[in-house]
Amino acid sequence: MKNDSSFVRLDGASNSSSKVVFYWEGEEIRANKGDTIAAALLVAGIRSTRTTPATQSARAPFCMMGSCFECRVEVDGEQNVQGCMRLVEPGIQVKRQRY
Ligand code: FES
Repeated sequence: MKNDSSFVRLDGASNSSSKVVFYWEGEEIRANKGDTIAAALLVAGIRSTRTTPATQSARAPFCMMGSCFECRVEVDGEQNVQGCMRLVEPGIQVKRQRY
């Protein structure tokens, strides 16, 4: 699910020349070097990063500091990665956490 983003960078860093390309559900995403996965996805307009096991309801990053675990994603096949605690790296394949 990708929506228009209401998340913007406060410091004008969107013009950074240090871009990192990674993939969300197979779609190319351009982030700034030093972005966390969760921040990069929010800026890109991705709002739901996981679904709950019981009802499959959509969840999204909330605290952005490693406390709530709502930002969990799959990174290169590794489950339950906290997107707000992991920096983007070139070429990583990030998927919605579904379990
Ligand atoms: S957003 Fe809360 S732990 Fe990542």
